[in-house]
Amino acid sequence: MLPTFENLLLSVTDGVATIRFNRPKALNALNEATLRELRNALLFVEAHAAGREGEPQIDVVILTGEGEKSFVAGADILEMKDKTVEQGEAFARLGQSVTRALELIPQPVIAAVNGFALGGGCEFAISCDFILASENAVFGQPEVALGILPGFGGSARLARFVGQPRARELIYTGRKIKAAEALRIGLANEVLPLASLLTRANEIAQEIRKNSPLAVARSKKLMNHIYTMPIDSALREEALVFGSIFGSHDQREGMGAFAEKRKANFKGE
Ligand code: CAA
Repeated sequence: MLPTFENLLLSVTDGVATIRFNRPKALNALNEATLRELRNALLFVEAHAAGREGEPQIDVVILTGEGEKSFVAGADILEMKDKTVEQGEAFARLGQSVTRALELIPQPVIAAVNGFALGGGCEFAISCDFILASENAVFGQPEVALGILPGFGGSARLARFVGQPRARELIYTGRKIKAAEALRIGLANEVLPLASLLTRANEIAQEIRKNSPLAVARSKKLMNHIYTMPIDSALREEALVFGSIFGSHDQREGMGAFAEKRKANFKGE
């Protein structure tokens, strides 16, 4: 039985969990309740990774927004506007705990950005493994126009996606950019008509699902871990993780299947 939420929709089909932000009247702005619900949804997703007990098995996650206008238009400004210093910090920590969870769960997460991805919305998108954008998508970190700054990981992560100079420009100007520019600067992997966004996200998810869930999960963890390391430390880590996968069911099965010219039957173990 899938959990239900007030501000999120969760469905699982063919090993792919789709999580939709569902406050379309507020353009899916993130209030505290939504952040807590998403944290719980990701705990559910993690407990259903391959090799764990949970049914149904979840191999890939798609994160998107309900409606045709917005992925997430940012943190909920109306809920946030009277916060104190302590409450502001606590709110940032809450948002960060969820963006970090997107990076820490073993399954790859595809952001299907179906409209506005502003402020916290852009920060959630860049915490996913990669971004597919609809033609009407609009990205930006407009926080400085509100007298604040990105606090759900944008100050820390945006430069990792687009490089320091572009991240500085986007954050200091608060400029909103369209999907085509997001593609040009490497923020989005692909731009698609809105009507085909989820079809394409599911297609990529199924492409990922053909592989060993264990190898995909180890790749995700390793790549996140070594991304900012000096090259020699990163290579040491890579060799350790490469070695650690030998002897696993999936390694024996994947290489055995190749040798026997048959399709591999992976278990994520
Ligand atoms: N918080 C709360 N409500 C929001 C919201 C937000 N971030 N964004 C939109 N809404 C609400 C509006 O208040 C409006 O509600 P009502 O119908 O009750 O008035 C409804 O959504 C529709 O919005 P608009 O009428 O403004 O729609 P539009 O199409 O004219 O404009 C928009 C769309 C350009 C996205 C505009 O809504 C906007 O600028 N939103 C704010 C974007 C923003 O600044 N985001 C950053 C937030 S701060 C942040 O995220 C901090 C952080 O790092 C954690």
